[in-house]
Amino acid sequence: MASWHRITASSSLLQVGLLLLLLSAQSSGKPLEKCLGDKSCQPPRPPVVLIPGDLGNQLEAKLDKPSVVHYICYKKTDSFFTLWLNLELLVPVAIDCWIDNIRLIYNRTTHTTSSPPGVDIRVPGFGKTYSLEYLDPSKRSVGMYFFTIVQALVDWGYTRDDDVRGAPYDWRKAPNENKKYFLDLQKMIEEMANKAGGPVVLIAHSMGNMYTLYFLNQQPQAWKDKYIKAFICLGPPWAGVAKTLRVIISGKR
Ligand SMILES: *[C@@H]1O[C@H](CO)[C@@H](O)[C@H](O)[C@H]1NC(C)=O
Repeated sequence: MASWHRITASSSLLQVGLLLLLLSAQSSGKPLEKCLGDKSCQPPRPPVVLIPGDLGNQLEAKLDKPSVVHYICYKKTDSFFTLWLNLELLVPVAIDCWIDNIRLIYNRTTHTTSSPPGVDIRVPGFGKTYSLEYLDPSKRSVGMYFFTIVQALVDWGYTRDDDVRGAPYDWRKAPNENKKYFLDLQKMIEEMANKAGGPVVLIAHSMGNMYTLYFLNQQPQAWKDKYIKAFICLGPPWAGVAKTLRVIISGKR
C-alpha cells in the first residue's frame, strides 16, 4: 500500500528535532499563565499533537452481520478486535472477510458513507500515542509507525499521553464525515495549550496533513494565533494521492 510507510528516515526525525529545538529556543521568562496568545512568550517545551496519515492508526471492529462473504468469516464477535493492522487477517480467504468488514458503502442519496450492515468500527486511543506508534498492537516492527518520533520526544523530556498525544481518526472517511473528530481535536489542543501555558505544535504525516489543513481552515485566525505554534508536515501529499485512492477504493486485487 503506497502511502503507508514507516517514518524511520533519520532525515525527517532530524527535521522534527531541529524544528522543535528552534521553536523552544525562543522561550522567554514570562509567567506561564500570561503566555497564551502572546507569541513572544513560550513555555520551554511546546506540547505536540501527532496526526497520522491514512492507514496510520489502529481501527477496531465488532461484528453482528446479517451475512458474510465466506463461511470461514466471523459473523458475530463478543467484543471489539483489531481490524487494522492485523496481519493474521491479511492472508488469502481471510482477507475477503477483512475487506467486507473494512469497506465503506456510499449512499448516493445522502452522499454519506457507512460501514456494512452489522459492522461497528471504532478508533482506539484518541489522545494517546499507542495506536499510531505501532499499527499492530502486538508491536511487530513491521507495524512500527510514529514510535521513533515519540520515543525521541520522550528522550527529550516529553511524556506520552500528556504533552505528546496522538489524534487518530477513521481514515476511511473524508474530513467532512469526521465532524466529531475535529471537535475532539480542537478540545484536546485547547486543553494541552492551557495546561502547558503555550501553543501547541502539530506534526502530521501524509494524508494527515490534509486533515490538519481542513481543520485549521475551519478555525478563526484568532484561535490559530492563540493555540497553534507550528504545523510540521511530514511527506505531505499536496499533489494528490490518486494511487492510494485507487488501492483503497478498488482493493486493487
Ligand atoms: C440511503 O439513505 C437513505 C436515507 O437515509 C435511505 O432511505 C436509503 O435506503 C439509503 N440507500 C442505501 C442504498 O442504503
